Amino acid sequence: MQIRILGSAAGGGFPQWNCNCANCDGFRKGTLNASARTQSSIAVSEDGVHWILCNASPDIRAQLAGFDAMQPARALRDTGINAVLLCDSQVDHTTGLLMLREGLPLDVWCTAQVHEDLSSGFPLFRMLTHWNGGPQWHEVPCTDQQSFSIPCAPSLRLTAIPLLSNAPPYSPRRNNPHPGDNIGLFIEDTRSGETVMYAPGLGQPDEQILQWMRKADTLLVDGTVWHDDEMLRCEVGTRTGQEMGHLAQSGPGGMIEVLDTMPARRKVLIHINNTNPILDEDSPERAVLTRHGIEVSFDGMHLDMGVPL
Ligand code: MLT
Ligand code: MN
Ligand code: ZN
Repeated sequence: MQIRILGSAAGGGFPQWNCNCANCDGFRKGTLNASARTQSSIAVSEDGVHWILCNASPDIRAQLAGFDAMQPARALRDTGINAVLLCDSQVDHTTGLLMLREGLPLDVWCTAQVHEDLSSGFPLFRMLTHWNGGPQWHEVPCTDQQSFSIPCAPSLRLTAIPLLSNAPPYSPRRNNPHPGDNIGLFIEDTRSGETVMYAPGLGQPDEQILQWMRKADTLLVDGTVWHDDEMLRCEVGTRTGQEMGHLAQSGPGGMIEVLDTMPARRKVLIHINNTNPILDEDSPERAVLTRHGIEVSFDGMHLDMGVPL
């Protein structure tokens, strides 16, 4: 199995276009040791040729252009994307579908809740039917944690884990989380037994989520904020990490403590907000992560979990 990190930032990206927080400003001035990051998306493949796009970011055009496998050029019109899987209906995870309209129809996998949001509050499924019939919806089962597979990657066994997070601001279920609003993905390569857990929006790991995390060889998890009240501290917003459905890294019960209990070989943070001090590679917060064996993902990071041939 291979995983490509297409976009490692949270909504807004880094630097965020209208933001002059210490990170965004420092990056523009060249005084911060940090890399620019696009909005949240990964691609997963069992063979390096057929890819499942997990989340469709508004930055998708640049992300595809930066990864050769996304344009195999076998035909006049072609793409390496064989399916799209959405973990939630947030703007940073779904707007890219609009940019993929020239390639419709595409198979899009998501839960019934996400499909409902994207057919009502943000009716992407409905409006895109005007482009070659639009996205073809396949329901991701999530309440019974039944595994499923996607035809372009038959060796990958996928399980959707319902996460305690939050639906987007436009959703009727905002602040009233339901299973299926937000999922984590547990991926097992049935050829090698290699396992990955991907959860960019992990608000509160309950015992069930922790059990899945313990089974993963590689964890790719929520790295949005360092402090729960980071947006307030930086004076750029009023919402806490918890209100947005994201567990902060620092503090009691924070992501660092959670990851410390995990046997995973690789622990990688993803979906990093532009206010997060870990973006500064010279920051004390980054050094704390390094001491705990926690990596910070970056755009273009490639995880090759080996393919036994
Ligand atoms: C989130 O996950 O909370 C988002 O990044 C918010 C957004 O896209 O604005
Ligand atoms: Mn997000
Ligand atoms: Zn900023």
